[in-house]
Amino acid sequence: MLKIAVFVSGRGSNLKAIINSIPHQLENVEVSAVISDKKDCPALDYAEGLGIKTLFVSEKDPQSINYESLIQILCGLKIDLIVLAGFLKKIPDEMIDNYPNKIINIHPALLPSFGGKGMYGMNVHKAVFEKSCQISGPTVHFVDKIYDNGKIIAQKAVDISDVKTPDEIAERVLKIEHILLPFVIKKISENKISIKNNRVYIAE
Ligand code: GRF
Repeated sequence: MLKIAVFVSGRGSNLKAIINSIPHQLENVEVSAVISDKKDCPALDYAEGLGIKTLFVSEKDPQSINYESLIQILCGLKIDLIVLAGFLKKIPDEMIDNYPNKIINIHPALLPSFGGKGMYGMNVHKAVFEKSCQISGPTVHFVDKIYDNGKIIAQKAVDISDVKTPDEIAERVLKIEHILLPFVIKKISENKISIKNNRVYIAE
């Protein structure tokens, strides 16, 4: 069983896609905890409603736990993989050191373009639109200590040549995110993802 912790900050559609994939695609995966940097957000409410353990993490809010405690809790839960699904805060270096190649993120553009600090949510799609990109698409990558910099695991190109607004790009890319992220989690749960000569390979 692959025990995952999903980190969220907002709507939670990727979290839902993961949970909805469990019965037919991710039979060996358990969402053991959902963590948010926001006390109230739809993603956290959704997880709570399903009876999943939720945690609120922040360095400032007295009602939250801090990252040091979070690492201990995740260790106690024996979490195998951390999935950042729309989590807006930078993960502290200490957590990355504790989970080498065990933290993945979904980004709504084809990295290494349109990534880095400030490139999140609609900012990404607006930038893609303004550059007149003809394709976009999600990237799932390992998380290292630099924003959107870790090795790319999977990407899917989406034709956006006929879009009229950044919203349309967001909608098309999100649909594919909901397929790509569960796909990568499944491959990790099957031990089918490896790194050789600095490249990531996914076995059939
Ligand atoms: C997604 O587009 C994801 O790629 C990005 O933030 C958005 C989160 O959406 N990192 P949701 O909360 O999963 O609906």
